[in-house]
Amino acid sequence: MEKENLPKLFQGQGGNLIMGQAMDLLDGVLDYKELMMGYACAIKEINTKFEVLDTEFEVRYKRNPISSIQTRLKSQTSILEKMARMGIPPTRENIEQNLNDIAGIRVICSYIDDIYLLAEALTRQDDIKLIRKKDYISNPKPNGYRSLHLIVSIPIFFAESVKEVKAEVQIRTIAMDFWASLEHQIKYKKNVEHAEKVIARLKECAEEIAHVDETMQEIRIEMDGIREETTDVEALYEKLKKIDINLMP
Ligand code: GTP
Ligand code: MG
Repeated sequence: MEKENLPKLFQGQGGNLIMGQAMDLLDGVLDYKELMMGYACAIKEINTKFEVLDTEFEVRYKRNPISSIQTRLKSQTSILEKMARMGIPPTRENIEQNLNDIAGIRVICSYIDDIYLLAEALTRQDDIKLIRKKDYISNPKPNGYRSLHLIVSIPIFFAESVKEVKAEVQIRTIAMDFWASLEHQIKYKKNVEHAEKVIARLKECAEEIAHVDETMQEIRIEMDGIREETTDVEALYEKLKKIDINLMP
């Protein structure tokens, strides 16, 4: 670019000074962007793995274990807040070493057994390393929170390098998710009247929800066990319907 065409800011002596500072600042910002790119790609990879499992189940067994998937990249504010809470300077290395939940994937299922089925199917894959598992379904938190949490790492293949990236996977039922979203909203409300009462009612709801989840699963398993008498034509029609399943969104 011709010097005259540069913005005034970059012309003359002052321009050189600003350029130096801007370079340093932008290097930092770009370094951060690279870091976040790894996490964004980990989300894409793991999201695809779950979609593949769901498609496989749909074709083989004509049912979808996954109701929906939500993904999120932790915000800059949350990253800085968490590092401050941990009392650790927010350098790239410290962030990579200490935060496991920058890449977040939440998988919502209809049934409890699908949670374990999906967790097993994911962690069995050769490229996935299981770093930590927290089973808040068999061991609910005192407030009633239930979910299966996995911290995993996955290699991301870039054009000229490979990088192991960590991600947090939360797997829960629709009912558990419904509960967690209300509990999350209440947690951040400051002036809740009769807070203890609300906490106790929420805990009661968590128990009721857990009971409903278990009953729904029992009913589904019973239904799965019922063998229907089918005619040859009906069997043929069932096969055709399977072949007609749409494989592309
Ligand atoms: P952070 O809470 O992220 O610092 O991690 P941790 O190491 O304590 O992990 P844990 O597996 O206990 O929780 C991780 C995430 O699960 C949280 O960030 C929430 O998204 C979710 N979670 C855990 N406990 C609760 C809870 O009591 N209520 C709700 N609504 N969500 C929870
Ligand atoms: Mg977290």
